[in-house]
Order: sequence, then structure tokens, then C-alpha cells
Amino acid sequence: MSTDLEAELQTAVEHRRNFAIISHPDAGKTTLTEKLLLYGGAIHEAGAVKARRAQRKATSDWMAMEQQRGISITSTVLQFEYRHCQINLLDTPGHQDFSEDTYRTLAAADNAVMLIDAAKGLEPQTRKLFEVCKLRKLPIFTFVNKLDRPGREPLELLDEIEQELGLQTYAVNWPIGIGDRFKGVFDRREQKIHLFERSAHGSREAASTVVDLGDPRIEELLEEDLYYQFKDDLELLEGAGSELNTDLVHQGKMTPVFFGSAMTNFGVELFLNTFLDYALKPGSRVSNIGEIPPTYPEFSGFVFKLQANMDPKHRDRVAFIRVCTGKFEKDMTVNHSRSGKIIRLSRPQKLFAQDRESIDYAYPGDVIGLNNPGVFAIGDTIYNGQKIEYEGIPSFSPELFATLRNPNPSKFKQFHKGVSELREEGAVQIMYSADETKREPILAAVGQLQFEVVQFRLMQEYGVETLLDLLPYSVARWVTGGWEALEKVGRLFNTVTVKDSLGRPVLLFRNEWNCQQVEGDNPELKLSAIAPLTF
Ligand code: G4P
Repeated sequence: MSTDLEAELQTAVEHRRNFAIISHPDAGKTTLTEKLLLYGGAIHEAGAVKARRAQRKATSDWMAMEQQRGISITSTVLQFEYRHCQINLLDTPGHQDFSEDTYRTLAAADNAVMLIDAAKGLEPQTRKLFEVCKLRKLPIFTFVNKLDRPGREPLELLDEIEQELGLQTYAVNWPIGIGDRFKGVFDRREQKIHLFERSAHGSREAASTVVDLGDPRIEELLEEDLYYQFKDDLELLEGAGSELNTDLVHQGKMTPVFFGSAMTNFGVELFLNTFLDYALKPGSRVSNIGEIPPTYPEFSGFVFKLQANMDPKHRDRVAFIRVCTGKFEKDMTVNHSRSGKIIRLSRPQKLFAQDRESIDYAYPGDVIGLNNPGVFAIGDTIYNGQKIEYEGIPSFSPELFATLRNPNPSKFKQFHKGVSELREEGAVQIMYSADETKREPILAAVGQLQFEVVQFRLMQEYGVETLLDLLPYSVARWVTGGWEALEKVGRLFNTVTVKDSLGRPVLLFRNEWNCQQVEGDNPELKLSAIAPLTF
């Protein structure tokens, strides 16, 4: 390798951090994102991201919205610079938009920030996303938000994370008071107290007063009971003795915890600084030829998300590629692993919110958007040099199931073509009844939005109007060991058997309880919430 390129890649990796935020709706993800961008100088006044969100919320018809905006109801990539580092924030789609893209985005991330509302603690969507992070062994940084409002005891929140997620916690900073009596946080790294000043929604970077732990003013600044409570907490924390162990953080076994209030900007800078010091840089990735380091001189990356433009006037589609190795350059030609084709990457885009900006080069840890003339599917690898295939992106247990019907026999061909193409694109998972006489596809999704997208696109792009019959299941489990393993256990109750698009057996259950019952009754049956990967 030329030493120049080697040095260039090394520097790029050293100065890159990439992460996604996992949270439950309303925990403050939009607010935190905005504040991070504010600190990164990517926006000058908070409100920009928020305004877009409000605009989006205001419309009940997201399809119409999508048409107006052209692109991006789901994730975008936000890039900003902070302390000489290039930070890539992969925006996971939230609530109403919850879909498989939310999971897939985590496949492209090197770190996750788990955002928790101090009053609510862990919530369902956060738990689900945590499971994906755990599977990928992603380092998780926890930000406990909304300290300016009444909330739960900090120790109780840490305990919940430890008990329920099995993650060791290390509080990097510690709150003093909460709600109306929130006074600030103690930064354990610097041994300094950052005093909280209420600012009106914090549209600018927060000015903060920092005092040493030994400063006699503290006793005056804090009311007596808070002061003693704080001293007790500190003793308890120090007594607990755990150290911030970077290795454990990088293995996804320990989470550094921060307390703050995104709305008022409080604690955001402290968080960013520590995050930069401890977050994982773009690293090696598992492929068919072993682990490949990011400084490998040839370009390679994989598709983690496809996005179709809903606007019929601009029917382009964008494939989002996570750059894994080498340097990406505009107009370069690459090999497409699955088809063996050679492709010219001529219109690369970097996406800052909804504005598309053309880019000339990108490095490991970056995400680029490429026009997708139907070549790319989720999980595809593109590469130069020796043939590389990255580990695919698994399908996660869908929670919504519906039979899709085509009431118009003359549209038979278009219907099947559409269903099969949308499946390939990863818009939805498709399953079929194990009963050969039932040919209608079963759509399996993690979010309602996916159904709407499929029906809308079948109509717009394939001219087929469809009917959807919801099925009463909410849990899917792949049978490890395939049909043979399933036959061995004999008849099962409270479940139906279907097959996925690769013909593998999947059991559908009405609820978790039924699933556990079947597992309990048949210990020899091994079930998985994630589809086995095929290389
Ligand atoms: P999301 O993207 O995770 O769904 O959450 P978002 O940022 O939209 O925040 C949800 C609500 O929580 C917003 O209030 C937001 O202002 C508020 N919020 C976020 N961070 C904090 C915080 O640190 N402290 C307090 N007190 N509130 C916070 P909203 O009423 O829905 O919107 P708005 O009236 O503020 O626009």
C-alpha cells in the first residue's frame, strides 16, 4: 500500500466517530440531536431539526409529506465536526416510523447512545433496540434526560439498567437534585461541579459555571439537605468502586452514564467530550475472508438501507452504504458482490437532514447515499480488489403480520413482481403459509408503516390495488435446525407454522406467553428471534 494512502486512512479513522441514538418516543431524541448539532456548529440555532419534526407531526398523511419533501421520512445521516473529529450520527427512525430500518441502521453504527427519560426509565422501544446493540456488541453510552423535571432516583435508574439489561453502569457524572431543585451535575472525571442555570429552551450553547469539589461556595450554593444527599451519594458511588473500564465499554458490557437536560443544553457538552474520548473508532468488520481492518487499502462497504422516493415525478431510489475500508471516490467503479457486476458510483450523496449534498470522497465510518437503479439489496457488499462479502444484516422478529391479497386476477403478474421486488429491497419480510394451498403472501413487519409503504408502492409503481387482512400474531421465531428439527417434536399447540422467503420454518405466536409455553413444553426445540444469516 502506498504509505500516503495508509497515513490518510489512519488519520481518517482516528478522527471519526459514528453512532446512533436508541430511545423510546418522547425521550428527547430530536432535542438531543439538535443540541449535538448545535455544539458541532452544524446548525447555529436550535430549532431547525425540531421545526422539521413539527412539520412532519402536523400532517397525518405521511405519504403526502413524503411527496413534498422528496426524500427521507426515515433515517438520514447527520455529519458534524467537533474537536477535530468528524462525527456521523446515524438517525434511527422513531415512533410512527418504526420499521426494520431502525434495526438496520444499528448494523452500520459503531456506537449507540441510549437516551432515557429520567421519569420513565427503560421503555419498550429502547429495550428492543438495546437487544440489537447487544447482538452487535456495540458500546452503549447512556444519557439520562430531563433532569430539570421531576424524575426517578438516579441510583434506581442505574439499578434498572444493570438488572434488566445486564449492563454494568458507570456514572460519569452525577446529578445534584432533580426537577425544580436540579442544581447541576458533578463531573467525576474532572472532580468538578457544573452548576445548572435555567435557560429558555437553550437555543444557544449553555454557559456553565464550574466549581471545584472543595470550593466552600458549594455549601452555600446547595441547600443543606441537597448538599448532604450529594455527599452521601458520592460516598456510595466511590464505595461501589467500579472504574470506568474502556475495554468493557468497547465490548458492550459496561455503559458510561450521563445525566442532563437536553432541552436546556445541560450536560450535552460534558457528554460529547467524554463520548469522543471513549467511543469506538471505525473498526474491523467480519467478512467471508475474515476480519478486515478499516485501513485496508481497497474500498469496500455494504448497503444497510434502501429508500424509495415516494414522489412519482422523481422515482429515484437511494442506497445507503456504510464505508468499511479504503477510500471512496466519486465516479469510482466497484464490484457488486452478489451479482458480480461492475458498477460506476457516479452520483454519491452525503445526506444532511433532507438536503442532498454531492460528495467527492468518504472514509471508513462514513455513510454515503447512492442512486440505486435497482441493483442493490439490503446487506449487499461493494468492493474493490479481492472479493469481499460482509456478514449480512439479519431479519429480526416481526411483530405485525397480515395476509396481502390481490383481488384482481388480471394483475396477477404485477402483484407477484411487486411483492418479490419489495421483499428483495427489504421493505418488508414476506412469509408464506406452510399449507401449500394458501398461496397469498404474509407480510411480516416490525412497524405498521411498512404495510402502508408496501400497499402504496404496489399501487404507485406496479399499478396493483391490494387488500390487507391483519393476522392475530405478534411473535415470530425461526426454528433452528430447520424442518427436520420441527418434525422431530411432533404436533405443537398455540402456534402456526409458516415459511420465510428462503423456505425456512418460522413459528408464529399470538403473544410472548404462548411462545414461552411452547419453548417450555419442548426443550429440544431451539427457536431464534433472528433469522439465521446466510453468507
Ligand atoms: P423524541 O424525538 O425522542 O420523540 O423527543 P423530542 O426531542 O421531540 O422531545 C419530546 C418532548 O420532550 C418535547 O416536548 C421536548 O421539548 C421535551 N424534552 C426533551 N428534552 C427535554 C429536557 O431535557 N427537559 C424537558 N423538561 N423536556 C424535554 P414537547 O412538548 O413534545 O415539544 P415542545 O413543546 O418542546 O416543542
